[in-house]
Amino acid sequence: MKKTAAPMLKCVVNGVKVSRAIDSGLTLSDFLRGELHLTGTKTGCNQGECGACVVVVDGKAVNSCLYMAVQANGKKVITIEGLKGKNGDPHPLVQAFADEGAVQCGFCTPGMIMSAYALLLANPAPSRAEIKQALSGNICRCTGYEMIFSAVEKAAGLLRGRGGK
Ligand code: FES
Ligand code: FES
Repeated sequence: MKKTAAPMLKCVVNGVKVSRAIDSGLTLSDFLRGELHLTGTKTGCNQGECGACVVVVDGKAVNSCLYMAVQANGKKVITIEGLKGKNGDPHPLVQAFADEGAVQCGFCTPGMIMSAYALLLANPAPSRAEIKQALSGNICRCTGYEMIFSAVEKAAGLLRGRGGK
């Protein structure tokens, strides 16, 4: 029987064009971690329940453990490694998480930050309730969440102060 060719995935990851033949059953998280070695994206439950694996695809937060890599074809993917501040500084979200003590073991942090990043793209001045709602799919076992919400508020203010970048 003739073997079908593996699908090609062409996308942009953290500003870099990627073109690969991939297994059609590969999840985006396995593609990012296993093929591109972007291991900042974590996997916990692999069932869409913890949010550790959140990345941003075309401006929207997605659980990359459930999102098939082929679905990213033609799209722009941003992972925690792609968040950069100006002049080599940490991105304001990363800085605010550090400043507010919003990181303890750090396992949830990349997913939290990417969910927050997608929120701030859509809504530069979210209320506390909107932040809680946007992060409701991200589980943190360590911090009690309040410092995380404060960090997102702080980063939103910093980003507004410099035109959203
Ligand atoms: S690993 Fe994707 S939601 Fe938990
Ligand atoms: S800092 Fe440990 S799970 Fe959130």
